[in-house]
Parts: sequence; structure tokens; C-alpha cells
Amino acid sequence: MKIYIGSDHAGLELKKKVKKIFENQVDFTDVGTFTEESCDYPDFGRLVAEKVLAEKGSKGIVICGTGIGISIAANRFQGIRCALCTSPELAEMSRLHNDSNVLSLGARILNIEEASVIIEVWLKTKFEGGRHRNRIDKLDS
Ligand code: RB5
Repeated sequence: MKIYIGSDHAGLELKKKVKKIFENQVDFTDVGTFTEESCDYPDFGRLVAEKVLAEKGSKGIVICGTGIGISIAANRFQGIRCALCTSPELAEMSRLHNDSNVLSLGARILNIEEASVIIEVWLKTKFEGGRHRNRIDKLDS
């Protein structure tokens, strides 16, 4: 599964650490930002959202300081279900019930150990379907 990962400057360090863990394990593309220069999270939320929407079956990970702004940005795009998760339990539920296709993380909230557990659970958990399918469909109607 292809993962598109993006962050603003506040999420850059955590993103670098996530990428290190992904190396040789996960097929990913970093859409930026690539420098510590101050930038705007909506730009990178949008880039990840557009990539995920363009490639069926792909998913995204977005990171900013709190994870809030960039999750709002990604969720502006129809078809994106971005879940801001601060625990593995939330990550699991966001996949089981909400079929989240983008995971949002807060670099000022989580350390890499916490983030990597959240990511691992999020990547391996499958959407439950069933009664949740109708609800997902309503989101985009
Ligand atoms: C940038 O300072 C910060 O506002 C941003 O990363 C994010 O936390 C916004 O929600």
C-alpha cells in the first residue's frame, strides 16, 4: 500500500523519524515540507489529500504541531476521511468504523515511540464495513 506523507515545519522532525522507520518497510512518498522554514499546513494537507484521492487504495499521513490544522485541511476534500489520533485505540477505531484514509499526528503532542505505535495499528487495521458502510457513504453525499 502506498503512503503519502506530508507535514508543515512543526511536523518536520517527527516526519523525518517516521520516514526512518518506514525505510525498506513501507512504500511512501514525502510531499513536503522539506525544510524548517515556516510554511502553511493547508498546503501540505491539500497535497496529501490530492495524492490519496488520485491513487485508489493509497493512504496518507499528515503531521503538524498539534495535528489539528492539517487534519482540518485534509478533511476539506471530498472522499478524505482524516482522523487525528492521539492513541492506538483511536487509530484502530478510525479504521474499523470510519475507514479513515488519512492519519493526522501532532508533533508537539506525540513522541516517535507513541507515534509509531499509532501508525502501526492504523496501517494494519481493516475497515469493518457492514453498518458503517452506509455512514461512510453519507459523508460524501
Ligand atoms: C504551526 O506553528 C502550528 O500552528 C501548526 O503546526 C499546527 O499546530 C496547527 O494546527
